[in-house]
Amino acid sequence: MRKLVVFTGAGISAESGIKTFRDSDGLWEEYNIMDVATPEAWTKSPELVLEFYNKRKAQVKGAMPNLAHNLVAELEDNFEVRVITQNIDDLHERAGSTDVLHLHGIVTQARSSVDENLIYDVGFNAINLGDKCELGFQLRPHIVWFGEDVPNMNRAYELVSDADILIIIGTSLNVHPAAGLINDAPTKSKKYLIDPNEIRVPDTDNLIMIKEKATTGMQQLVKLLN
Ligand code: APR
Repeated sequence: MRKLVVFTGAGISAESGIKTFRDSDGLWEEYNIMDVATPEAWTKSPELVLEFYNKRKAQVKGAMPNLAHNLVAELEDNFEVRVITQNIDDLHERAGSTDVLHLHGIVTQARSSVDENLIYDVGFNAINLGDKCELGFQLRPHIVWFGEDVPNMNRAYELVSDADILIIIGTSLNVHPAAGLINDAPTKSKKYLIDPNEIRVPDTDNLIMIKEKATTGMQQLVKLLN
């Protein structure tokens, strides 16, 4: 089977009612990144950081996968599919995708604030001040904050560099190192980018831009692929 990598950002979950970051009315218009999504913010006011992620977790709990997530999952019928997502929601998993790599973490997990290897599945339960890991230290969201390493990046490079087809959906390609993945696809591989807005991409061979929202673009792409 041909190897297909789907690389997604907040845009694929927009039609599930989850805000993106940089669109108008996006999350970063409502919150200052430095107050809620950095290690410094965690040190300064862990309760504000926990409130931010507990709110996002509640929103994810109330959301459903949309047609784009479902069509991505259905690609597994005809391709060897790996999903690499920047999103911290679990909508790809709930849509039925079986191989999902989260680059920036996931809202349903917490980890020890002193040992990043102590990771706990907490589902949609809020993480509160006083919730401790087995070593007796405060739990934090298992999210990659700005300024922190992206541990799954090497695996992501491996997957993209071995892809026959790369599909990019709903990302402004603003945040590195994730955004650099497009440069790691083999020159000969076929690339598709689905986004309703104009996305600046580096000069890339075999790239087809589908200027549509994710649900419409994925319906068009499924026809192209079959
Ligand atoms: N369908 C597809 N794409 C959409 C839709 C839609 N319905 N609505 C918006 N988009 C596109 C926007 O045009 C934009 O290109 O989704 C993209 C969202 O970009 P961002 O808000 O920057 O989100 P993302 O690229 O995922 O951000 C990357 O930045 O803040 C950090 O860690 C956070 O993982 C996030 C990372």
